[in-house]
Amino acid sequence: MAFAPISILIFYVALLWLQHMRVSSALSRNNESDHLALLKFHESISNDPHQILSSWNASNHFCNWHGVTCSHKHQRVTELKLQGYGLRGTVSPHVGNLSFLRNLGLGSNYFHGEIPAELGRLFRLKNLSLWDNALTGEIPINLTSCIELRYLRLSENGFIGIIPNGLGSLRKLEMLHLDSNNLTGYIPASIWNLSSLKVLSVGYNNLEGSIPEEINQLENLIILAIHANKFSGAFPSSLYNMSSLTIISAANNQLNVTQLPHNMFSTLFNLQQFGIAGNQIAGFIPTSISNASSLQLFDIGGNYFVGKVPSLGNLKDLSLLDLELNNLGGSSNSDLDFITSLENCSQLEILSLASNNFGGILHNSIANLSTQLMYLYLGGNQLHGAIPASLGKYLNLIGLSLESNKFIGTIPTSFGKFHKLQILVLQGNQLSGEIPTCLGNLSQLVEIRISENKLQGKIPPIFGKMKHLSSLDLSKNNLSGVIPLQILSLSSLSKLLNLSHNSLNGSLPIEIGTLKALGTFDISENDLSGLQNISVLEYVNVSFNMLDGEVPKEGVFKNASAISVVGYGSFGSVYRGRIESEDKFVAIKVLNLQKKGGGKSFDFECNALKNIRHRNLVKILTCCSSIDYKGQEFKALVFEYMSNGSLDEWLHSLAESVDQPRTLDLDRRFNILYDVASALHYLHCECEQPIVHCDLKPRNILLDDDMVAHVSDFGLARLLSTFNGVPQKQSSTTGIKGTIGYAPPVLEMLTGRRPTDDIFKDGHDLHSYVRTACPNKLLEIVDSALLRKQTQQPSTAVAKEIIMEELIPMHPNEEKAIFSLFGIGLACSMESPKERLNMMDVTRELNQITKVFHSRQ
Ligand SMILES: *[C@@H]1O[C@H](CO)[C@@H](O)[C@H](O)[C@H]1NC(C)=O
Ligand SMILES: *[C@@H]1O[C@H](CO)[C@@H](O)[C@H](O)[C@H]1NC(C)=O
Ligand SMILES: *[C@@H]1O[C@H](CO)[C@@H](O)[C@H](O)[C@H]1NC(C)=O
Ligand SMILES: *[C@@H]1O[C@H](CO)[C@@H](O)[C@H](O)[C@H]1NC(C)=O
Ligand SMILES: *[C@@H]1O[C@H](CO)[C@@H](O)[C@H](O)[C@H]1NC(C)=O
Ligand SMILES: *[C@@H]1O[C@H](CO)[C@@H](O)[C@H](O)[C@H]1NC(C)=O
Ligand SMILES: *[C@@H]1O[C@H](CO)[C@@H](O)[C@H](O)[C@H]1NC(C)=O
Ligand SMILES: *[C@@H]1O[C@H](CO)[C@@H](O)[C@H](O)[C@H]1NC(C)=O
Ligand SMILES: *[C@@H]1O[C@H](CO)[C@@H](O)[C@H](O)[C@H]1NC(C)=O
Ligand SMILES: *[C@@H]1O[C@H](CO)[C@@H](O)[C@H](O)[C@H]1NC(C)=O
Ligand SMILES: *[C@@H]1O[C@H](CO)[C@@H](O)[C@H](O)[C@H]1NC(C)=O
Repeated sequence: MAFAPISILIFYVALLWLQHMRVSSALSRNNESDHLALLKFHESISNDPHQILSSWNASNHFCNWHGVTCSHKHQRVTELKLQGYGLRGTVSPHVGNLSFLRNLGLGSNYFHGEIPAELGRLFRLKNLSLWDNALTGEIPINLTSCIELRYLRLSENGFIGIIPNGLGSLRKLEMLHLDSNNLTGYIPASIWNLSSLKVLSVGYNNLEGSIPEEINQLENLIILAIHANKFSGAFPSSLYNMSSLTIISAANNQLNVTQLPHNMFSTLFNLQQFGIAGNQIAGFIPTSISNASSLQLFDIGGNYFVGKVPSLGNLKDLSLLDLELNNLGGSSNSDLDFITSLENCSQLEILSLASNNFGGILHNSIANLSTQLMYLYLGGNQLHGAIPASLGKYLNLIGLSLESNKFIGTIPTSFGKFHKLQILVLQGNQLSGEIPTCLGNLSQLVEIRISENKLQGKIPPIFGKMKHLSSLDLSKNNLSGVIPLQILSLSSLSKLLNLSHNSLNGSLPIEIGTLKALGTFDISENDLSGLQNISVLEYVNVSFNMLDGEVPKEGVFKNASAISVVGYGSFGSVYRGRIESEDKFVAIKVLNLQKKGGGKSFDFECNALKNIRHRNLVKILTCCSSIDYKGQEFKALVFEYMSNGSLDEWLHSLAESVDQPRTLDLDRRFNILYDVASALHYLHCECEQPIVHCDLKPRNILLDDDMVAHVSDFGLARLLSTFNGVPQKQSSTTGIKGTIGYAPPVLEMLTGRRPTDDIFKDGHDLHSYVRTACPNKLLEIVDSALLRKQTQQPSTAVAKEIIMEELIPMHPNEEKAIFSLFGIGLACSMESPKERLNMMDVTRELNQITKVFHSRQ
C-alpha cells in the first residue's frame, strides 16, 4: 500500500492542474467570448442613425467601444449603455454571455422583439433598463434569476401578459418601473413582500385587483404609482401612515374609496405628490392635509368631494393644486376663503378650481398668489361680480379660464399685460363693453373664446399680430361693424373662426385666401349683407366670397353649409355650395374683374339671363354684386350644379379610373352635340334678344347626372360688357368674335385634340388639320377613344388590373356618320362667321345623321 499516498498525491496534483486549467481557460475564453457577444449584439442592430457604433471596429479594443465599460483587471464587460441613440434592431440573446455585466442600459431606442430569456444568465446584473423601446412579448420569468437586480425599468414598451410572481424573489429590488405597457392580471402577492422596494410604478396598464393592506410591508416605499389601470376595491388604510411615501398616484382607477379618512395625511410628512383624480371619492378634503407639508402636487380632480376647502397655508411647496370637477363649495360667499391661505404657497404654478360649485365674488385676494402662476382655471362655477383688474399682475400666465360663471362688467384692460398668455377663455359670462384693444399685446395667444357674453362695438383690428392664433370664438355677442380684414388674413387660424350670432355687417371680402386650413368657419346669424345664413362648416381650400344684396330673396343660400372650389374659369373661380334645406348643390361663379362698374346694367342683364330657360342651358339661379376688400367690384353668378363636370374633362381626362373609364362613345358624343346645337339654336333664334355665346368650348359644356349637356357661360360677354359702360349691340350676332377656333366644338369632339394642341403652329389650326385629312385620311385622325369599341369585362380577379380592349372595325354607317359630322364641324368653324352654318341647319343635319347612325344595326 506504499503507493497509495503517491497515487493520492498524483490525484491531487492532477486535480489542481485540472482546476488551474479550467480557471485559466475559462478566463481567456470568456474575455474573448465577451468580444464575440458584443459583435453578435452589433449584428442584430439594423439601423444606427447617429453612427454611434462606428467605434465598434477591429482596430479598437472592445473595451474602448462606445457605451462599453470593462473591469480593469480582467477586461470583462461590466456595462453596456447605449441610451437614446435611436438604435433599431433586436436585443441579441448573446448579451446573456456577458457574464460580468452589471448594467445593461438600452433605453430610448427602437429595439423590438422580445427580451431574450438568456438575460436570466446575467446573475451579476444590477441594472436592467430597456424603457422606451418597442419590445413585446411577456416579461421573461428567467429575469427572476438575476438576483442582484436593484433597478428594473421596462416602461413604455408593448409588454403583455402578467407580472411574473418570481419578481418578488428579487430581494434587492429597489425600483420596479413597468408603467405604460399592456400588462394584465394582478400585482403578484410576492411584490408586497419586497421590503427593499422604493419605487413601484405600474401606471398605464390593464392591471386589476385590489391594493392589499400588506402594502405597508413596503416600509421603504417612496413612490406608489398605480394610475390608469383597473384597480378596484378599497384604498388600503395602511397606506395612510407610510411616512416614507413621497408620491401616491392612483388616478383613473375604479378604486372604491368612499372618502378619505380625516387623519389621512396625519403622518405623511414626506408626501410630495398625491394624485387620485378620476375615481369616485366623496366627502370632505381631510383637514389633516395641512400635515403633508412637503406636498408639491395635489390632484384630486374628477371625484365627488364636497364642502369647504381647508386651509392649505402649510403646504409651502405646493406647485399644482387641482380640485376641478368636484362638488366643492356651494354654501356661501365664503367658498373661496381658502384662497387667502394659498398666499403661503410661493411655488404655485397651476391652480384649477374649475367645474365645482364655488360661489361668491372673486376678491382681490385672488391677486395675492405666487407671481409664478401660469395656469388659473376657475371656469364652470357660480362666481359673480366683476373680474378683478388686479389679476393683471400675473405676468407669467399661460392659460386663463373664467368661463361659464356670472361675471359682469368689462374685460379688464390689465389683461393687456399677459404677454405669455396662450389661452384666454371668458365664454359664457355676462361681460359687456368693447373688446379692449390692449388684447392686441397678447401676441402668444393660440386660443380666444369670449362667446356668449354681451360684448358690443366693433371687433378691433388687433388680431393681425397674433401669429399663433388658431381658434377665435366671438360668437353670441352684440358685436357690430365689419369683420376686420386682419382676422381674415390670419393664416394661423386653423381650427375655428366663429363670429356667428352678432350684428356684424358689411360683406365678406372676395379673397379670404389665407384661411385655407380652417376647420370651422361660422358667420351665420349676422347682418352681413347677403347670405346671412351661410355657415361654412367644411371649409375646403377656398378663397370664397359671399354675395351681396338681393341674393337671399330667393332663399337660395339659406343654410348653404359647404363651399368648395370646383374649378377656375377665365372669369374667376367656381365654387360648389350646398343648400342644406333642399339637399342640393349649386355652383357659384365669382367673376374675377379688375374693373369697377356695371351697376344697374349688370343687374338688368342678370335678370334677363335668369329668365332664359332651356333644357340644354345651365340654369342661372341668381346673380349679385358687391365690393371686395380692395374696394373692387365683384360679381357672382349662381348656377345649378352639374355633377358630371365639363365635357373638357371627359374628352381630355388623363386619369381614367379602371372602374369608371371616362370615355364617351359615339352615341354619347352625338347626343351631346345635339344638346349643344339645341341650346345654341335657342340662344340665337328663340330668345327675346339673340345671345351669342362667344366662348363656347368643352369647358363650358357641362354634363348633368344623366349626361345631358348644358351650355354655361352664355350671355357672359354681354354681361361683362356692362363693365365698360357700353351696352353691347343686341342684334350684332356677327360682330363678336369668340375665342379663336371655337365654334361648336365638333372637331375637338371628333379628333380628341384641343385647338390649342402643340401640333397646331405656323398657321395650322384644327380646322385646317381636318380639312387636310379630308376625305381619305379622316379615319386616321379620329379620336382613338372612339375606335376602342368594346371593353370586355375581365372574368378573373387577377385580370382586373387590365382593361381588355378589342378594336373592332367600324360599321359603314358609323363611318358615314363621322364623315358627315366632320363636315358640320368644318362648316361651323369657317374663318368668316358669314360662311358658318347657322344653328337651324346644324340641328337639321344632325337629325339626319342620327337617323343614318342608328340604322347601323
Ligand atoms: C453564448 O453562449 C451560448 C451558450 O453557451 C453559445 O452557444 C454561444 O455561441 C455563445 N455566443 C457567443 C457569441 O459566444
Ligand atoms: C475605429 O474606431 C476609432 C475610434 O472611434 C476611430 O478613430 C477609427 O477611425 C475607426 N476605424 C475605422 C476603420 O472605422
Ligand atoms: C483577455 O484578458 C487578458 C488578461 O486577462 C488579456 O491579456 C487579453 O488581451 C484579453 N483578451 C482580449 C481579447 O481582450
Ligand atoms: C443603475 O441605474 C441607476 C439609475 O440610472 C444609477 O444611478 C446607477 O448608478 C446604476 N448602477 C449601475 C451599477 O450601473
Ligand atoms: C431559463 O431558466 C431556466 C431555469 O432556470 C433554464 O433552464 C433555461 O435554460 C433558461 N433559459 C435560457 C434561454 O437561458
Ligand atoms: C393591449 O391589449 C389589448 C388586448 O390584447 C389590445 O386590444 C390593445 O390594443 C393593446 N394595447 C396596446 C397599447 O398595445
Ligand atoms: C413573504 O416573505 C415571507 C418571509 O420573508 C415569506 O414567508 C412569505 O411566503 C412571503 N410571501 C409571499 C406572498 O411571497
Ligand atoms: C400605522 O402605523 C403603526 C405603527 O407604525 C401601526 O401600529 C398601525 O397599525 C398603522 N395603522 C394602520 C392603519 O396601518
Ligand atoms: C364600495 O365600498 C362600500 C363600503 O365598503 C360598499 O358598501 C360598496 O358596495 C362598494 N361598492 C362597490 C362598487 O364595490
Ligand atoms: C399633524 O401631525 C401631528 C404630529 O406631528 C399630530 O399631532 C397632529 O394631530 C396632526 N394634525 C392633523 C390635522 O392630523
Ligand atoms: C403662512 O405661513 C406662516 C409662517 O410660515 C404661518 O404662520 C401662517 O399660519 C401660514 N398661513 C396659513 C394660512 O396657513
